Amino acid sequence: MDRLSTTTAETLFGINGESAHERVVLATDAPSGLQAIIAVYSTARGPSFGGCRYWQYAGDHEALNDALRLSQGMAFKNALADLPFGGGKAVIVRSGESLDRAALFRAFGRLVQSLNGIYITAEDVGTTADDMRAVQSETQYVSGIPRAGEVYGGNPSPRTAYGVFVGLLSAVDVALGRKTLDGVSVAVQGLGSVGWDLCERLHRAGAQLIVADIDATRTTRARELFNARVVETAQIVDIEADVFAPCALGGSITRAVAAQCRFKVIAGGANNQLMSLAEGDVLHQRGIFYTPDFLVNAGGIISCVREYLGSADEQAVLTEIAAIGPRVLELADRVKATGIAPARAAVTWARQKMTAQ
Ligand code: NAI
Repeated sequence: MDRLSTTTAETLFGINGESAHERVVLATDAPSGLQAIIAVYSTARGPSFGGCRYWQYAGDHEALNDALRLSQGMAFKNALADLPFGGGKAVIVRSGESLDRAALFRAFGRLVQSLNGIYITAEDVGTTADDMRAVQSETQYVSGIPRAGEVYGGNPSPRTAYGVFVGLLSAVDVALGRKTLDGVSVAVQGLGSVGWDLCERLHRAGAQLIVADIDATRTTRARELFNARVVETAQIVDIEADVFAPCALGGSITRAVAAQCRFKVIAGGANNQLMSLAEGDVLHQRGIFYTPDFLVNAGGIISCVREYLGSADEQAVLTEIAAIGPRVLELADRVKATGIAPARAAVTWARQKMTAQ
C-alpha cells in the first residue's frame, strides 16, 4: 500500500486496516487569529515530536494534507533515528493579515499545552527561535530554543544540514563508488537555512554546485561565494548532475521528474520530497539512488530531542547525527537484499522500529 500518497485528507482514517493518525486537532483562537492543526501520527515510541510550520496555503485542505504527511514522516524519522519519540507535526495557517506574532505563538503554546505532552513542538519552515520562546511562555513541551548558560540548544538547521551532508556522502559512495565529493556535481534546490549550510559544506568538500532559489539575492551570493552555477527554479530538476539535493519545500519529485531526471543520487533536506512512494519505485527502476528525506534530514530533530531531554553536548549530538551515514549504507544493503526501492524499504524499516517497542 502506498502510504505516502494515501495519507491525505481524503483517507483520514487509513484504509485496508493500515494505521491512521492517532489524533488530529483543528484549533482556532479568535483574539490572536490562530488557525492551527496538530497531527499526531504515532506515540508508539513515546510522545510525538516534530516542528511547527507557519505557512500560507492555497486552502485548508492543503494545510491539513501537509500536517498529515509531515507528521507521518516524523514518525518514520524519529524511529529510524532511534529516538524515544513518536511522530507529530503542527501547521499554523498564515493569513494575509498582519497579526501580533508573539500573541499568535503564545496561543499556539496554549494549544500545545492543552494536549498534555502527547505532542512536543519546535521550529520548522516559517518559524524561528523567537517564536518558540513565545510558545515556551505557555508550555514546557517545546524545543529549539537557545538557553543562556546551557550547553546545547537552538536553531536545528545547521545540524539538519550536517546530517544531510553525511547521508549524501554515503549515498555517493553507494551509487558512484566515490569516497569524496571532490568534483562531484550537486544541484541544490533552495538556499534557505538548510540548503545554504549544506552548500557551504559541499563547497568545502570540493563539490561543484548548481543552485536555484526563488530569492535571487541568495543565488547571487552562492555564485559569488561558492562559484555556483545558477539556474531557474523550474530548471533545477531538469539539469544533468551527479546529485540532486532538494532543500526547499516538499513534492519536487513528481511523476515526470522521477521519469526524466538525470541524477544518479537524490539526497536532500526537504520533507516529503516524493509525491508518493510510486515515484520512489520509478527512480529505483531507473537506477537512481534515492535516500529518503526522513532518513537523511533527521539531524535537526536529533538536536531538538537532545536539547529537550537536556542529555547531550554538541559533540555527542554531532556523533549521533553522523550515524546517518552508516544508516544510509544499511538501507542500501536492505535494498540490495530485497530488491525493494529505498523509499519503501525505509518505510518498512521504520515501521518495524515503531512496533518493536
Ligand atoms: P527555509 O525557509 O529557510 O528555506 C527554504 C528555501 O527554499 C528558501 O530560501 C526559499 O526561498 C526556497 N524556495 C522556496 N520555494 C522554492 C522553489 N520553488 N525553488 C527553489 N527554492 C525555493 O527552510 P529550511 O529550514 O531551510 O527547510 C528546508 C526544507 O527542509 C523544508 O522542507 C523543511 O521542512 C526541511 N527540514 C528542515 C529542517 C530544519 O532543521 N530547518 C529539519 C528537517 C527538515
